[in-house]
Amino acid sequence: MNLVLVGFMASGKTAVGRRLAKRLGYAFLDTDTFIESELGCTVSDIFSIQGEAYFRTLESRLAGRLCKLQNTIIPTGGGLPITPGNMERLKAAGRVVFLKADLEDILERLQRDSRRPMVRQGLKQGNLRETVARLLGERLPIYEQSDLIVETHGKSMSRVCGEIIRRAAEQGAAETKNAPAPTLTVSPD
Ligand code: S3P
Repeated sequence: MNLVLVGFMASGKTAVGRRLAKRLGYAFLDTDTFIESELGCTVSDIFSIQGEAYFRTLESRLAGRLCKLQNTIIPTGGGLPITPGNMERLKAAGRVVFLKADLEDILERLQRDSRRPMVRQGLKQGNLRETVARLLGERLPIYEQSDLIVETHGKSMSRVCGEIIRRAAEQGAAETKNAPAPTLTVSPD
């Protein structure tokens, strides 16, 4: 069984995912990093050169292929589940866990990180708080369709991981097994 982590930018998906993979002995595939390594450039470059729509196509293609993985922790880009059809694709791949971070926690982390193209676009259009609050409001109803919702505010990473493992196990999702190496691509079929 795979565990798919969804949530807004800077909600800790990658860091929590790495820790979970280690604790469970699972493989790890971060969708942003996977796309970056397949294309040989950063998400930021893909946004500025080929455009956001192209990036979203790659994300959806990858989302449809995640079901080929086994025993893998899969943190996803914050916008991936928002593209129509992708939440269903993620659910077909595994148990979907929403890391629900507070607006203030997200803002504090994003203020320290200007690499993200959505943040830069938002900053051009207005202030960061307004942009993040609007996007979060639009996205929340979709994130909340996840199988598990784990609030992160005020919790240590190890507590968040413990909660995910315990609750996923209650749902019969988490078994510690040796995971095979993923063999995926975002190239057209
Ligand atoms: C995005 C989130 C980013 C990355 C891209 C777009 C978004 O991933 O996929 O910059 O639309 O929220 P993180 O959630 O890992 O920052």
